Amino acid sequence: MTSQDDLFHPVVELPEPTRRARYDRLVGLDDMKLLLRKETALLADPRRLRSWAAEHHGGDIAALTLFADRAPLFVFAGDVGSGKSALAESFGCDLADWLDLPVYLYRLKLATRGSGLVGEMTSLIGDAFSHMHTAGKRVSGPKGARAVQILVVDEADALVQSREAQQMHHEDRAGVDAFLAGIDGLAGAGLPVVVVLCTNRVGALDPAVMRRAAATFTFTRPGNEQRHAVLAQALDGLDIQPETIRKAVELTGPTKDRPGYTFSDLTQRLVPAAVLRAFPDRPVTDEDLLALAEELEPTPIFTEKR
Ligand SMILES: Nc1ncnc2c1ncn2[C@@H]1O[C@H](COP(=O)(O)OP(=O)(O)O)[C@@H](O)[C@H]1O
Ligand SMILES: [Mg+2]
Repeated sequence: MTSQDDLFHPVVELPEPTRRARYDRLVGLDDMKLLLRKETALLADPRRLRSWAAEHHGGDIAALTLFADRAPLFVFAGDVGSGKSALAESFGCDLADWLDLPVYLYRLKLATRGSGLVGEMTSLIGDAFSHMHTAGKRVSGPKGARAVQILVVDEADALVQSREAQQMHHEDRAGVDAFLAGIDGLAGAGLPVVVVLCTNRVGALDPAVMRRAAATFTFTRPGNEQRHAVLAQALDGLDIQPETIRKAVELTGPTKDRPGYTFSDLTQRLVPAAVLRAFPDRPVTDEDLLALAEELEPTPIFTEKR
């Protein structure tokens, strides 16, 4: 059996201040955040749904069994730089506060995808899920969960691409099957384990994977209000005029020739570029920001064909 260090990046216990701050900085995702909190809380501790039904509907309701059968899988899909990884790796902070339980964040090392030996992929995925099973059992008991584990499978495109995809090697198909088996093993096991799968290419995701997901969250490029919120937050303290921020919001929106900026185009390219232009001799000016917003090309839309 593969050791934990070979399967996962170091496990992180949440809540934790850095990730908490990252979660709070994610704008425009409030609906998603709320739904994610409820969905994971119910998967992690189904007794909450039962006591809610008892309180508000006077006892068990048919819908309870529907929830019991769901696979603990969420799919985060959408454009690059739209906050999938950031949310996947930080929402546990909110969950931990809400449930008043520790949350352990496991991130699968897909880079360990190995030398392509037949069976290697299968056993890696299989081992990862057995690990989650064992860890999940350790923290569940008759009085409910004592902790929640989140497994994040990021950049999962190659892993769970459609089994029908022509170009796919045998090894990759084995990965999909192992993943499905892992999810099915967790479904109905009643363990406080939740799997989040992030992908840029929802179109290529195996239909069997999509079918199992308790929910699919679609991430998009920021609209005007969201770009405004992100820019205002990222430029805080730089003495940029409100009018300049409004102009930058316009400049970074979609035009007929190109899409609008992604979230990360704003936070990881535009604002840092403005700072680097001024550093080390002078302050950042409104002019820096506007010149760069004219100049920088947003990340192209991720296409299915590559
Ligand atoms: N909704 C958002 N609000 C604020 N910043 C965001 C948002 N989404 C993404 N970002 C910024 O973009 C960076 C990259 O996002 P990331 O989660 O890695 O994108 P993805 O995984 O979807 O490609 C984040 O670290 C953050 O700085
Ligand atoms: Mg990502």
